Amino acid sequence: MNNVLVASNRGPVSFTVSDDGELTLRRGGGGLVSGLSGVAKDGVLWVCAALSDGDRSAVHLAPGGRIDQAGYDTGPLRMLDIPPATFHRAYNAVANSTLWFVNHLLYDIPNAPLFGTKFGREWESYRDYNGAFALALAEEAGHEARVMVQDYHLTLTPAMLRAERPDLRIAHFSHTPWAPPEYFSLLPDEVAREVLEGILGADHAGFLTDRWAQAFMDCCEALLGAEADRVGRSVTHDGRTTRIGVHSLGVDGAALWERACEPDVESHMTALKEQVGDRRLIVRIDRTELSKNIVRGLVAYGEFLGSHPEWHGRVVHLAFAYPSRHDLPEYREYTASVQRCAQQIEDAYATEDWDPLILNVNDDYPRSLAAYRMADVLLVNPIRDGMNLVAKEGPVLSPRCALVLSREAGAAAELGSHALLVNPYDISGTATALHDALVMPEDERRTRRDKLHAAATALPPQKWLEAQLDALA
Ligand code: G6P
Repeated sequence: MNNVLVASNRGPVSFTVSDDGELTLRRGGGGLVSGLSGVAKDGVLWVCAALSDGDRSAVHLAPGGRIDQAGYDTGPLRMLDIPPATFHRAYNAVANSTLWFVNHLLYDIPNAPLFGTKFGREWESYRDYNGAFALALAEEAGHEARVMVQDYHLTLTPAMLRAERPDLRIAHFSHTPWAPPEYFSLLPDEVAREVLEGILGADHAGFLTDRWAQAFMDCCEALLGAEADRVGRSVTHDGRTTRIGVHSLGVDGAALWERACEPDVESHMTALKEQVGDRRLIVRIDRTELSKNIVRGLVAYGEFLGSHPEWHGRVVHLAFAYPSRHDLPEYREYTASVQRCAQQIEDAYATEDWDPLILNVNDDYPRSLAAYRMADVLLVNPIRDGMNLVAKEGPVLSPRCALVLSREAGAAAELGSHALLVNPYDISGTATALHDALVMPEDERRTRRDKLHAAATALPPQKWLEAQLDALA
């Protein structure tokens, strides 16, 4: 039996299966997995969903879906083989198209149909999927074990697990923002209540910033009539009290720097230098995700070029927009609009010997590390973001980068006073900030960067995990 368990939809690794049935292992991606991998090690059982055919084959080869020797450095794993149709409705329709949309304020409200009978079936699947996690955790957890449930995929699991195993100490952590009550209450009333009460089934509910924690407490008061203690940070509902914690997540600066000095990154730097010469570099690195606001970032760069012809031929924008969630039509359409917008900038400004924009749409980690190292300006302009680790990785890797940062990113709480903060909807304001960042005097740029570096590395994942475990002690 296990004393510490982590549960998340995506696990630290996934498997691919070749035609001759051989399984190969690869690391999982995303902020949550990068944060937890490498720190959730010895003695920590990680429960996750089987996401691919390879994962399902691995589950069937392992007794009880439990993979003790996965050949990676994060401890044993239990993968849950949830029926594909249930998984699809829970993950794509509810978690990614509904809860993610609500907490990132992404709905196109006048045009989108919202919650009809189809959603009722999807919500049932989300319940089943959360129930499968609760059941597996109840089976695996030792007496009074500590269980750390992660993110919007698993909001119902804490309450379900508590009903099965009242002896456990349960935490839930939200890696996303939390919506204000007037937006959160777009959800059907019983769904909104179930989500809030599901999380309140935990002893400790964690958020990345005070702003998201306060918004969660606002929702509990407004939609459940719960009692929130803002000073002591707790919510009392139906006779139970859940503590509310704020635990920021930063970067392990030494490990990141070491990775960014490996030969594959160095050779990408050489290639990029050949491509851009001694021009100044504005870099952005994102998944092609609606909340990342890539289109407005590109339009702002176009506006900057339009109003500052003195920079023509002297600056290049490297925009990395990696594929994400392509099962959802909104994401496919968004990728197409990013590409259209990039083409318009090319058409308007490119010359025979100057490419103002390099858009990279393939996942290429060493190449993005190379871009960070060479950046003069890093643009991070999400509409809304739980934290945004790109804003923290850039200052660690670039000795002289100025950060243009959306005030709506969680990271703005810690980095805001050393960055150039922008309203992510304000294209002209963003264009002006890009210009200000490029002309920032060298000594100011270095002073700000050193402060950004210190703030970005203050709370590495190890400390974040320890704080979560301490909160349950
Ligand atoms: C980002 C978010 C996490 C989320 C993850 C899921 O990294 O910051 O909150 O859990 O995406 O991504 P996935 O690719 O698994 O849908």
